Amino acid sequence: MIRILMVCLGNICRSPLAEGILRDKIEKSGLNAIVDSAGTGNYHAGEPADPRSADVALKNNVNINSHRARQFKQNDFDNYDLIYAMDTENYNNILRLARNENHKNKVKLLMNEVLPGENLSVPDPYFGGRHGFDNVYRMIDQACDKIAEKLNT
Ligand code: 4NP
Repeated sequence: MIRILMVCLGNICRSPLAEGILRDKIEKSGLNAIVDSAGTGNYHAGEPADPRSADVALKNNVNINSHRARQFKQNDFDNYDLIYAMDTENYNNILRLARNENHKNKVKLLMNEVLPGENLSVPDPYFGGRHGFDNVYRMIDQACDKIAEKLNT
């Protein structure tokens, strides 16, 4: 069973969405996978998802209300097969914690699933308005479609 970890900075805006969206797609297609999320920072550990993320998720029939934030940890390299970073800063911070090539090879930039090799980031919506969360939802949803497609084949 494949194990996938979604990672952003705070684990309250983007990666909880990515976790919820991918889990929803996986359940709908009858696939078997483990999906979780974490943040490179620990400022919000133990907190639920940002209400703006929870709202945009519900608007799209995805429920992330039981989410609780946690920090990315060294063990995650062993516990997950694929680690998707939401932006290039998260990507670099995760790579810095990798202890070997096997760990490094697990780390991907999420939006490269949609536009391979372009190294696009899902923008941090935390300091913006609600519109930013709609945009982030759309980007993550596209990437999760690609991931679910790959898992299906
Ligand atoms: P996230 O968004 O990384 O998508 O969860 C953020 C959440 C909190 C902060 C920054 C980004 N913060 O600075 O507290």
